[in-house]
Amino acid sequence: MDSPIVTQLFRQLFRHPACRSRQNLVALSSCIQHGRSRVQQQRRSMASRQGVTRGGKQASKTSESNWQQRTELFSFDMTEEYKAYPTVTANELRSRRERPKKVKMLMRDFIEDSLYNPHYGYFSKQAVIFSPGEPFNFNALRDEPAFQEENSRRWTEFEDKLDAKLPEPNDTRQLWHTPTELFRPYYGQSIARYLMANYIMKTYPYHDLIVYEMGAGRGTLMLNILDYIRAEEPSVYDRIKYKIIEISPALAEIQNSQLLTSAASRGHADKVEIINRSIFDWTEREPSQCFFIALEVFDNFAHDIIRYDLKTEEPLQGMVLINENNDFYEFYEPVLDPVAARYLRVRHVATNGRYEVPYSNSKVVRWAKGQLPFAPNLSDAEYIPTRLMQFFDVLEKYFPAHRLVTSDFHTLSDAVKGLNSPVVQTRYQRRMIPVTTPLVHQGYFDILFPTNFRTMEAMYGAITGKLSKVMTHEEFMQRWAFVEDTTVQSGENPLLSWYKNASVMITTN
Ligand SMILES: C[S@@+](CC[C@H](N)C(=O)[O-])C[C@H]1O[C@@H](n2cnc3c(N)ncnc32)[C@H](O)[C@@H]1O
Repeated sequence: MDSPIVTQLFRQLFRHPACRSRQNLVALSSCIQHGRSRVQQQRRSMASRQGVTRGGKQASKTSESNWQQRTELFSFDMTEEYKAYPTVTANELRSRRERPKKVKMLMRDFIEDSLYNPHYGYFSKQAVIFSPGEPFNFNALRDEPAFQEENSRRWTEFEDKLDAKLPEPNDTRQLWHTPTELFRPYYGQSIARYLMANYIMKTYPYHDLIVYEMGAGRGTLMLNILDYIRAEEPSVYDRIKYKIIEISPALAEIQNSQLLTSAASRGHADKVEIINRSIFDWTEREPSQCFFIALEVFDNFAHDIIRYDLKTEEPLQGMVLINENNDFYEFYEPVLDPVAARYLRVRHVATNGRYEVPYSNSKVVRWAKGQLPFAPNLSDAEYIPTRLMQFFDVLEKYFPAHRLVTSDFHTLSDAVKGLNSPVVQTRYQRRMIPVTTPLVHQGYFDILFPTNFRTMEAMYGAITGKLSKVMTHEEFMQRWAFVEDTTVQSGENPLLSWYKNASVMITTN
C-alpha cells in the first residue's frame, strides 16, 4: 500500500465526518481515492531558513543552498512561514488540548508530542496493551502454530469484549502485545530470578531490594515479580520496595487497579509505589543500590533526525513545520541544537569513531552519485536517540548505584527510509498499517525505533561509567527462565523463538 496515501487517508479520516462515519474497508478505499489528488501537492518541502529551492534548481549561490534536497520537485515555498512561526517544544505543548498549528519544532519534540501529549498523545489516549487473560498452558499445546492460533483467538475475544462495551466498534483502537503479557507469569519470573540472584550475591542482607520499573504497561511484570519472590524467598520479599515510574495517566491507573484486583495482589500494595511521571521530569536522588528495569520503553523514546551535507559531511538537524491546515514540512538547519550536537560528540568519543553513517564513506562514490540527474545533495536521514542519551544522564545523576535491566528491539521490519529509522504504524479495523514517515496525524500512530545495542552500550558506559553486557532475548531466557514452563508438546519453545529481534542489556558492576 502506498504509505503517503495512507497517511493522507488518516488525516482525511480524522478530519472529515463523512469518512469517519463509514466504518468499513469500502470507506478506507474511497478515502484513499479521495486522498490521492491532494497527495500530489503535499510533498514535504525541505528548505533552509534563508532560501527555498523549487523545481530542482538552487535558489541562491550561497552555501545555504546546499541545505535543499534537489529532488523535491514540487515543494512549496514555506520560507516566510518558517521565519514567522514560533518554535515550540513538546513540554510547552503538554497543556494544549488541540494539535498545534502555525509552529515549528525539532523532530524529537514532534515525536514526543505525538506519543505523549496528555490530551491527544498515542500513549495517553490510543494505546491498549493486550492481555491474554489466563496464562497460556504451553505444555498442553500441540506445537507453535497451535500457540499462534490460541493467541489469535484470545486476541479477537479481548477486542470483542472491548467493543461490546461501546455503542459501535472502535475501528482505530491501537492494540499491541509485549512478551511480559504473552508469557506471563514466566517472563516476569525469569526477571525475578535474575534480580534475586544478583541481590543475594551482592547486597543482601545489608540493603533492601529496591526495584524501579520505568514504563510498566499494565503492571503485569510487577505483579509476576512480586508473586514469585513472595512464594520463593519470603526473607527477600520482606526487603523489597517496588517503584513504578509511568508517564501515562491511563496506564498508571490500570497498574493501580491491577494491584487491587485480588487478595493476593492487594497483599503487595504496601510494597509498591506508582509514580505517574515521565522519567525526564525525575528530580529525586536515589543513593541506594537499586535495579532499574526498562522493558520496551527505549523504542518509544523520541529521536532527532539528521541529514549530512554530501560534500562536507557536516550534519544538519531536522525541524518540522506545521501550517494552518495541519500540513507538515521538513526543514534542515546547519546549526545543531545543543542536545543533538552533544549526542554526536559523545557517540564519536564513546565508539572511537566506529559507527554507521547514512552515506558512502568514499568521496568518489558520493561524487559519482551526485552526477546523476536529480541527485540529492543531502544524505538519507539518520535518526539519533537523543532522548535515550538524556535518560542515561538521569541514571547517572539520580540513580548512581543502579543496575539496569533493559530489553528492546535491535531490528524492526517495515521501518521508514533511513538509518536507525522507526516503524510508524497504526491499526485500522484490526489491521496494522505501516506508513512511510513519522510526520503523521499526532496521536494515532505508534512510532517505534530499533535500538543499536552496540552504540547504546558504548554511550551508556561513557555517561554512567558502568560496565554492561548485551545478549539476545533468547540467551537471557535460556539462562534465567525455566524453559520447560513454556515448551509446547512438539518441543518448540515460543519464549525462545518469538522476539528473535530483541536483545537484553544488563549492568555488570
Ligand atoms: C511498549 S510499553 C511497554 C510496557 C511494559 N514494559 C511491557 O513490557 O509490557 C512502553 C511503556 O513505557 C511508558 N513510557 C514511555 N515513555 C516513558 C517515560 N518517558 N517515562 C515513563 N514511562 C514511559 C509507556 O507509557 C508504557 O507504559
